[in-house]
Amino acid sequence: MFSSFEVFSLVSVYVLKFVVVLNHFFPFLSNFQNATNLFVAARNASASTTNLRDVLSDLIPKEQTRIKNFKQQYGKTNIGQITVDMVYGGMRGMKGLVYETSVLDPEEGIRFRGYSIPECQKLLPKAPGGEEPLPEGLFWLLITGQVPTEEQVNWVSKEWAKRAALPSHVVTMLDNFPTNLHPMSQFSAAITALNSESSFARAYSEGVHKSKYWEFVYEDSMDLIAKLPCIAAKIYRNLYREGSSIGAIDSNLDWSHNFTNMLGYSEPQFTELMRLYLTIHSDHEGGNVSAHTSHLVGSALSDPYLSFSAAMNGLAGPLHGLANQEVLVWLTALQKELGGEVSDERMRDYIWNTLKSGRVVPGYGHAVLRKTDPRYTCQREFALKHLPNDPMFKLVAQLYKIVPNVLLEQGKAKNPWPNVDAHSGVLLQVRCHSSLWSCHLRNHRWKASLTVFSPCVQYYGMTEMNYYTVLFGVSRALGVLAQLVWSRALGFPLERPKSMSTDGLMTLVGAKSG
Ligand SMILES: CC(C)(COP(=O)(O)OP(=O)(O)OC[C@H]1O[C@@H](n2cnc3c(N)ncnc32)[C@H](O)[C@@H]1OP(=O)(O)O)[C@@H](O)C(=O)NCCC(=O)NCCS
Repeated sequence: MFSSFEVFSLVSVYVLKFVVVLNHFFPFLSNFQNATNLFVAARNASASTTNLRDVLSDLIPKEQTRIKNFKQQYGKTNIGQITVDMVYGGMRGMKGLVYETSVLDPEEGIRFRGYSIPECQKLLPKAPGGEEPLPEGLFWLLITGQVPTEEQVNWVSKEWAKRAALPSHVVTMLDNFPTNLHPMSQFSAAITALNSESSFARAYSEGVHKSKYWEFVYEDSMDLIAKLPCIAAKIYRNLYREGSSIGAIDSNLDWSHNFTNMLGYSEPQFTELMRLYLTIHSDHEGGNVSAHTSHLVGSALSDPYLSFSAAMNGLAGPLHGLANQEVLVWLTALQKELGGEVSDERMRDYIWNTLKSGRVVPGYGHAVLRKTDPRYTCQREFALKHLPNDPMFKLVAQLYKIVPNVLLEQGKAKNPWPNVDAHSGVLLQVRCHSSLWSCHLRNHRWKASLTVFSPCVQYYGMTEMNYYTVLFGVSRALGVLAQLVWSRALGFPLERPKSMSTDGLMTLVGAKSG
């Protein structure tokens, strides 16, 4: 049947035609012209409605039909071959998932609904006076495929501000975690505990029809995204700011601005950095560990809280999101061993030592990408613009010249180029403030802090590296939850690929065992 938007569109077209005919035969009825204009305006307003749920209600039936027709016509078409290497090799390159919100090209990097990062930076609405895209706009783009208007983005900011409050049991739980529990474990546990609020779980237990699943997944996803900065800020304050209050949400501020306020950072440029950070970490197509995990767990009809917390446990792995922490740990150790200004030669030796000791160089390599990650590039551009003389940035830039050659020389890594994590930590912890005379330098042992006095101190001040993956997690919600809404709207089934034993595989290909 027709959605409310379609009914409105049809009615308005016929009324419009009627008014035009009336005007033609009775030109003296000039006020009908005004009526015409009014109707056109009303129709446009509806077409650009700010209510995201209405926009989805319009889009979903069309997409369901498109995919149904596609499957009917091409459902049995072969789309690739699977080799034994692929089965043992972490399923690299197997096309086995449908994921709508973004696609990763090995050479070009990520495209969010077809838009590259530079295009998103150009097209998506910004905060007043800001230059970086608002993550709200990226979420709108990911979930609808449409570049939003400023009004639509404002609507999302307000909606998330409205839904941000945490239930008391989650606050109590966070306040009672021991300080040696990693921030990512706290984050994931708090998200799991939030499922007491799941409208999807409630509706399912009450027997809701499957055609309505997406509506509840949408509501849960909006609630969860709204609450994540509060959870993340609470963890930060508890661990690094003596449990001080995160303060109140300001419904006139955007999501990132509220987040940086709750974290306790008032520097406008840090908020701009956060907008960029939360935008670019949001999505990286469907096969990466966090996206794939939420997709898999969601396919069991676990609610968005359970699906997303599972994703966060994957993001907490050092080969995935935790690499942004690992990079800073590695850089700090490098500085400690080699001192401030490092020659290229000594840096090369240090990298080789890392490799020879059987470790990876964090922040380099990728399972899909075969070029420098554009998420690295845009962070580098931010650094070149705002902190070109920062010593840590210079170190990162120097590594960019040296690490790829070493990895190529070693000849193992398929991609020797930097990924997103090679840069993010450095941006978070530093910024040159020539007028600033004192700051806290916190080392990565969580609570230890040292006050230093200097005429030129590098300072954004988020030096708590163990926390960085939490920021990644807040951002990742935008992509994987947008997809989760579509997964339920499109009725994706329980995920259940076929596994094989080695003996079974050998028999399959006719190999002699042993
Ligand atoms: C991202 C990553 C896990 C991809 O893994 P992958 O798809 O298996 O990568 P490759 O196919 O290129 O790996 C081939 C070999 O090169 C090694 N390699 C890849 N990247 C490497 C790196 N940065 N440093 C050292 N060795 C690396 C792998 O460990 C593997 O070694 P092995 O044959 O002894 O097992 C890998 O590049 C890595 O560990 N990078 C460092 C961690 C990191 O930055 N993670 C964040 C990713 S966004």
